[in-house]
Amino acid sequence: MSYAIIGLGKIGTAIAQAFAHRDIELAVAGRRPLDARAKQIGSSLVPRQLEDAIEADVVILAIPFAMHGEIGRALENWQGKIVVDATNAFGVPPEELGGLPSTAALARSFPGAKVVKAFNHLPAEVLAQGPTTHHGARRVVFISSDDEAASDSVAALVDRLGFAPVALGKIDEGGRLIQARGNTWAQLIFQDLARFD
Ligand SMILES: NC(=O)c1ccc[n+]([C@@H]2O[C@H](COP(=O)([O-])OP(=O)(O)OC[C@H]3O[C@@H](n4cnc5c(N)ncnc54)[C@H](OP(=O)(O)O)[C@@H]3O)[C@@H](O)[C@H]2O)c1
Repeated sequence: MSYAIIGLGKIGTAIAQAFAHRDIELAVAGRRPLDARAKQIGSSLVPRQLEDAIEADVVILAIPFAMHGEIGRALENWQGKIVVDATNAFGVPPEELGGLPSTAALARSFPGAKVVKAFNHLPAEVLAQGPTTHHGARRVVFISSDDEAASDSVAALVDRLGFAPVALGKIDEGGRLIQARGNTWAQLIFQDLARFD
């Protein structure tokens, strides 16, 4: 599996740090060159142009929700790829999402992709504390997808990064617990939970 992240802002940096700590290669791309920023984070980060980064098997979106259409248009067909939605559509009126959970609305811009929501429920500064809590437990990362195999793949990645994956099921079911809606946050957003193995 190859991995890429689009956006190296607050949440993108927290996710990229987790890759760097485990020395897992991660292509990074944004609107401008990220060479210096990537180098600061770790040597397993590889700066790429957007069109090269999205060749990865798994593409993590760490951009403002409003930008997802632009990234989706960079490829005609996302068949065979997993797109990980780390965005929160906080403040986006539900009518603009056609009444759908934000991840289901975002998925329409990635035809053919298996879309998985993950890494969005914690504030960046909490995720950046890493996978192990001060109690020595593993910090939970929630996952939701309509595709079970894609959910399992992202769970395996989350586990490899050291976090405890917790799968919530389909986006329109358990996934609603981690979707911002209008000006409200769902119940599990901001819940910094941990698992003792
Ligand atoms: N901050 C949090 O605590 C947190 C936690 C969970 C989820 N989220 C969600 O994660 C997403 C990012 O939030 P953030 O706080 O990390 O924002 P941020 O710090 O502003 O970072 C956004 C990143 O996306 C890049 N970007 C913006 N438009 C782009 C485009 N068209 N193509 C490529 N890259 C683009 C930005 O590049 P430039 O620097 O060049 O503009 C920047 O690197 C949001 O959807 C947010 O709701 C945030």
